[in-house]
Amino acid sequence: MIEQLRKDFPLLHTQVDEQTLCYFDSAATTQKPQSVIDAVNKFYQQENANVHRGAHTLSAAATTQYEAVRTKLADFLNVAAKEVVWTKGATDSLNLIAYGLSDKLNKEDIILISPLEHHANIVPWQQAAHRTGARIETLPISPQGILDLEASKQLIKTLQPKILSVCHASNALGNIHDVASLIDIASRCGTITVVDGAQSFLHLRPDLTALGCDFFVFSAHKALGPTGVGGLFGRYELLNDMPVYQTGGEMIERVSFSGTTFRDAPGKFEPGTPNISGVIGFGAALDYLNAIDDSALAHYEQCLYRYLVDALSDIGGVKIWGDIKQNIGVVSFTYKDEHHFDIATFLNTYGVAVRSGHHCTQPLMEHLSLSGTVRVSLAFYNSYQDIDTFIDALKDTIDMLEE
Ligand SMILES: Cc1ncc(COP(=O)(O)O)c(C=O)c1O
Repeated sequence: MIEQLRKDFPLLHTQVDEQTLCYFDSAATTQKPQSVIDAVNKFYQQENANVHRGAHTLSAAATTQYEAVRTKLADFLNVAAKEVVWTKGATDSLNLIAYGLSDKLNKEDIILISPLEHHANIVPWQQAAHRTGARIETLPISPQGILDLEASKQLIKTLQPKILSVCHASNALGNIHDVASLIDIASRCGTITVVDGAQSFLHLRPDLTALGCDFFVFSAHKALGPTGVGGLFGRYELLNDMPVYQTGGEMIERVSFSGTTFRDAPGKFEPGTPNISGVIGFGAALDYLNAIDDSALAHYEQCLYRYLVDALSDIGGVKIWGDIKQNIGVVSFTYKDEHHFDIATFLNTYGVAVRSGHHCTQPLMEHLSLSGTVRVSLAFYNSYQDIDTFIDALKDTIDMLEE
């Protein structure tokens, strides 16, 4: 099955710097199947028009397609279409939510996040805290960077935060968090819960009704879709109650110089011309995901991950960070005191694309006393051969660095 699926991803079969590409940077952005590329091309070649504002055929068709993807996504996440807002991506979504919830915060309030968060789930809350006087607190994690679930639940009960915002899976280490049990406790404390699903959307395909969160954010480009588009789910009463974020055309009900009224959600959060081709491309990505057996894929990804962890663990001097038991398929490692950038640069000469650095998680790296790691992030289109190539290249790299 995997060999067949790999054929759908054109870039996996091209040469980069005269090497066959081994792509291990899917946590940054996934490769795109041909059907997504075709959907975007088809839109511009045959269907291009603006949405929501035309009586003409192409505009009506674009609107129908665009809104159909909202419904498809809502079905994928098991929520209602009116609870889905299109944005530029997870960062944009988190900014929208942090701004929108600021009205509910004052200097007595606590915003609880984890030290594992991507900067996109830290900085917008810091800004909200600056605006409102609220305080940011963090959940407890181990020296290895693993969330202490029981202590976290206890802390939620003790602090009774106004907002809890945590990632479903860490982009830097791949750790999967049992957000359902945190949400359960938090909801009973009256806490508004936000899940950063940028990394879990593809690997865990969460059912948001089962998860029980108030908000959930994601980026299409991390789930086979185009860049520049993503979205958020918001429980309708909370979502519709939030003040508008950015303003302009389309999101209004009526504009006059004596005052302006706004549409209900989701429209009130979608000013201006949206990323129409991006949404339509994402619709093709959802079709692609819906057509494949997700449990078989999840099993394959986990087997690949184990294979990678075992092979890396056999190399003396390599240290793998994070939780290797509950992981979406991200391996973050260091080799002795060698610089992560040097390792990644050497690997690149073998066609192996990995990421090095702090992965937009500087507080986590500080906690681990690291300047960064080398991150190998897997997706279902990786093969065992890719991992063998990577391990051979890493051994050569180490030989060179040790010389
Ligand atoms: C966990 C997490 N949250 C948020 C983001 C931000 O996503 P984007 O850059 O697509 O807005 C990322 C991106 O890497 C991420 O991994």
